[in-house]
Amino acid sequence: MARQHRPSDQRRLRTMTALACALVIVAPACDATSTPSTEAEAQVEAGRVLFTTEGCVRCHGAEGQGIVGPRLNQGSVLRTFPRCGDQLRWVSLGSAGWERDVGPSYGATAKPVQGGMPTFGSRLSEDQLTQVVTYTRTVFGGANAEDVVADCG
Ligand code: HEC
Repeated sequence: MARQHRPSDQRRLRTMTALACALVIVAPACDATSTPSTEAEAQVEAGRVLFTTEGCVRCHGAEGQGIVGPRLNQGSVLRTFPRCGDQLRWVSLGSAGWERDVGPSYGATAKPVQGGMPTFGSRLSEDQLTQVVTYTRTVFGGANAEDVVADCG
C-alpha cells in the first residue's frame, strides 16, 4: 500500500520545491506555478492572452511566424516599428484607418499598406493595446520587457 504523506512531509516537500525554484534561475517546472514577478512580466502575460482571444494568432501565428498577416518574430516587428508608439497606432487603426489617417505606407521600412489588418482601437482599451503590443515586441521581437514597457508607457 502506498505510504501517505504526513503533513510535515508535505511541508518539507514544499520547502524543498521553493528552494529548488529559488536556486534554478530558469526553471520551466517552476514557471507553471509562479505568478509574474514584475509589472513588465504581468504586461507580457496579459498580452499573451489577448493575442489569442483577439484573434491575432489566427493571422500572425502562435509563434508570430506569419499566416495571412506578416511575420512578427525574428525581429521583424521591431524593424517595422522601432518605436512602440508607432506600433500602438498601427494596431489601433488597422490597415484602413492607417491609410485614411496616416498614409499609404507604414513603419520605418515604409511598407505599402496592403489591407487586411483589422482596427483594434474600438475593441481594446489603451491598456489592452499596450499589453498585446508589449507581448509581440518582447516575445516575438526579442526586446527586453522592461525596456518595452518603458517605451510603450
Ligand atoms: C484578420 C487577420 C488579422 C488579424 C486578426 C490581425 N492581423 Fe495584424 N496584420 C494582418 C495583415 C494582413 C497585416 C498587413 C496589413 C497591410 O499590409 O495593410 C497585418 C499587420 C500587422 C502588423 C505589422 C507587421 C509588419 O511588420 O508589417 C502588426 C504589428 C500586427 N499586424 C499586429 C497585430 C496584432 C497585435 C493583432 C491582434 C490585436 C493583429 N495584428 C490581428 C492581419 C491580421
